Amino acid sequence: MPFKLVTGDITKISADAIVNAANTSLLGGGGVDGAIHRAAGSGLVTECRSLGGCETGQAKITKGYDLPCKYVIHTVGPVWKGGGYLERDLLYSCYARSLELAKRKNCESIAFPLISAGVYGYPKDQALSIAIKAIQDFLKKNDMDVTLVIYSKNTFTFDNELFDGISSYIGDNLVREMPVKETGFLRMAGASRAKMSMPAMEESAFKDAAPAPDAANAYEAKSLDDFVRHSDESFSQALLRMIDEKGMTDVEAYRKANIDRKLFSKIRSDNGYRPKKQTAVAFAIALELDLDKTAELLSKAGFTLSDSIKFDLIIKYFIINKQYDIFVINQALFAFDQTLIGC
Ligand code: APR
Repeated sequence: MPFKLVTGDITKISADAIVNAANTSLLGGGGVDGAIHRAAGSGLVTECRSLGGCETGQAKITKGYDLPCKYVIHTVGPVWKGGGYLERDLLYSCYARSLELAKRKNCESIAFPLISAGVYGYPKDQALSIAIKAIQDFLKKNDMDVTLVIYSKNTFTFDNELFDGISSYIGDNLVREMPVKETGFLRMAGASRAKMSMPAMEESAFKDAAPAPDAANAYEAKSLDDFVRHSDESFSQALLRMIDEKGMTDVEAYRKANIDRKLFSKIRSDNGYRPKKQTAVAFAIALELDLDKTAELLSKAGFTLSDSIKFDLIIKYFIINKQYDIFVINQALFAFDQTLIGC
């Protein structure tokens, strides 16, 4: 998964490089700086002494020593002074310079702490959105696994309005006990079973997508026609068809889906590939599919979106509201302690 959010201690992350939120002396300090120096051992500060310090917004690289990583990239974030002293540009630059350094060293993975969000007092919500923006911009043109390590959940902030919107959507729609009906038929609004001898699917996969009763026949004809036309398609074939229908390139599709290049080439070359649900959902988001088309794509991998699963409801919330930014969706899933999408 090119971008992921995790909670934990960055000194325990085994990536090619981890990033240190350092100060201009590069000789260690408290917070994550202290933790990294303690875990790396004395060799780190010895090498840092030879670097001659580092300016705010810039980054320098050393070996990883006793840490489970090849390199430590030391970057110096801005001290928050109210926002009128180029703090935003300097903080963005910390991520961009660190990513460039990692790329120059052919790193395939890197982990960041939330730079400046501790001692340097940067408002956490702004620090997070700048971090994500810088990482998102980098991943638009590069392949690398980038992890943003949130030290503890209470330092993670999420857009209150969006959080409340999702919470009320879950509250209004979460079906506690989803009656599992072994119908043997696909059940859609207005659909007569006799015509629908299709594989069993949960009603909810279509419940929201089915239009008002008066359009049910058109819906039925459309979906029956669609179904017959594409019923023997594999997930891979359906995905490639939908990418073409959207006029997207493969690279655009997998990068927007937060899917790494290797996984995409596996899906592309293996007709029988069975993706994980969060992979299939990630492509539905990347292709900006509506609920109906999402249900169609997921069904090729044997999945549906159910009203009895919080993860599914959060995905439906974003699709119904036509909000397809996978970085925002993953922050929401992270905020609700759900699995992130992509892979
Ligand atoms: N793993 C991951 N994140 C951590 C860890 C850790 N082990 N320890 C702290 N953090 C988080 C903090 O919760 C915060 O969100 O890292 C983020 C950055 O906090 P600081 O380490 O205080 O860094 P910063 O705000 O950039 O201030 C840098 O602090 O430690 C000194 O020498 C450092 O002078 C420099 C200043």
